[in-house]
Amino acid sequence: MIMKRLIAPSILASNFLKLGNDIELVNKSDADWIHLDVMDGRFVPNISFGMPIIKAVKTIAEKLLDVHLMIEEPGKYYNDFKTVGADILTVHYEACPHLHRDIQTIHSLGMKAGIALNPHTPIHLLEEIITDADLILVMSVNPGFGGQSFIKESLSKISRLRDLIIKSGSNALIEVDGGVDLHNAKTLFDVGANVLVAGSSVFGSSDPQDTITKLKNC
Ligand code: DX5
Ligand code: ZN
Repeated sequence: MIMKRLIAPSILASNFLKLGNDIELVNKSDADWIHLDVMDGRFVPNISFGMPIIKAVKTIAEKLLDVHLMIEEPGKYYNDFKTVGADILTVHYEACPHLHRDIQTIHSLGMKAGIALNPHTPIHLLEEIITDADLILVMSVNPGFGGQSFIKESLSKISRLRDLIIKSGSNALIEVDGGVDLHNAKTLFDVGANVLVAGSSVFGSSDPQDTITKLKNC
């Protein structure tokens, strides 16, 4: 089986004074999606950015906008995220007591729906929802900050998620987020990941475009 291998650079690590340049760089690169991390200072202990930034990015982005919501009560804003240009909207399992309804609402607005799991949240909790999701995002660091070290236990979690996807017949992609770099990318694809998010390892490198190519073809 040929598995999809996609790269989603996270602009959390970009230079916000030159955000337009970084989006143009990603446009020209082998990246597939642009990953946007929305943080509310409640679900996670950090505040990042919201609608105005996503709206501005959308005006020049030539890649799909992959929006990762690290916020409480995300359902208040699904409509707004659609309006500013989100293509894929991922919500946290831990923030959604009515996750089935959330997924349906995101779909009804015409977006792909993803479910993110914090490092401590087990895969088996997805059993009843896995066939509804387009994407499962495995957090391989605790959400809230870029530049953290990859939690190595995430590898076995990804392979258990791959098993669940195969067993259930789900079409969900597996996205891995946090501490992804050129040292672990190949292993992540080998254990079953489809989409790698990379912030610091891309924008902190001397040649971000080349790093994206290397991540994709590792
Ligand atoms: C962390 C965010 C990540 C972050 C990854 O809460 O969800 O997307 O930007 O950054 P790096 O690649 O630097 O770990
Ligand atoms: Zn993220």
